[in-house]
Amino acid sequence: MMSLPAHLQIEFTLETAAHDEAVEALSAEAFGPGRFTRAAARVREMTPHDRSLSFVAMRGAEFVGSVRQTRVMVGTRPAVMLGPLAVKPAFKGKGAGRALMAMAADAARLAGETAIFLVGDRAYYMPLGYEPLPARSVLMPGPVDERRILGLALVPGALQGLSGAVGPR
Ligand SMILES: CC(C)(COP(=O)(O)OP(=O)(O)OC[C@H]1O[C@@H](n2cnc3c(N)ncnc32)[C@H](O)[C@@H]1OP(=O)(O)O)[C@@H](O)C(=O)NCCC(=O)NCCS
Repeated sequence: MMSLPAHLQIEFTLETAAHDEAVEALSAEAFGPGRFTRAAARVREMTPHDRSLSFVAMRGAEFVGSVRQTRVMVGTRPAVMLGPLAVKPAFKGKGAGRALMAMAADAARLAGETAIFLVGDRAYYMPLGYEPLPARSVLMPGPVDERRILGLALVPGALQGLSGAVGPR
């Protein structure tokens, strides 16, 4: 679908069930045993991620990293929850993370979605266009540091008034 500089030989495709094992192994490595108690994981227990909005990076047969997205509701409005995003340590810093994020946003926009939110580091996501959401707006089903809830408007104004409990679509 899309490539980083050719010398890196990293290519991107839609996620399929064949990638599940690698995605879950990397998630275990990146986020540790606490990952299942994270608020975002609780959302993903309620509703499966959408493979048409989820991408993997590969170098040949080698798994490099991935991003998943889940279609949810925030209160009465549809939105997309992004995560997990992870890149294997050996491939970090080559732009794979950023490329996965760009693909995720493009796919969501093309699918008619209007907003994406995630729980993550401002320092990584704000340069990609994400902005902090107001406190007590997007209510996750579990403890979360509210300063880490960030949103990306796919159409102008889509983050305004985005509020309510996160739940299945
Ligand atoms: C975050 C992650 C996905 C980035 O993937 P990547 O392919 O290395 O990212 P890119 O190559 O596109 O970007 C790398 C840049 O992001 C920076 N960066 C990485 N993680 C960061 C963080 N948590 N906060 C701020 N900057 C970060 C790097 O320092 C690097 O900066 P540079 O380009 O100025 O050198 C990867 O480091 C990872 O898997 N981390 C563990 C899991 C994780 O934290 N996921 C995010 C969950 S919120």
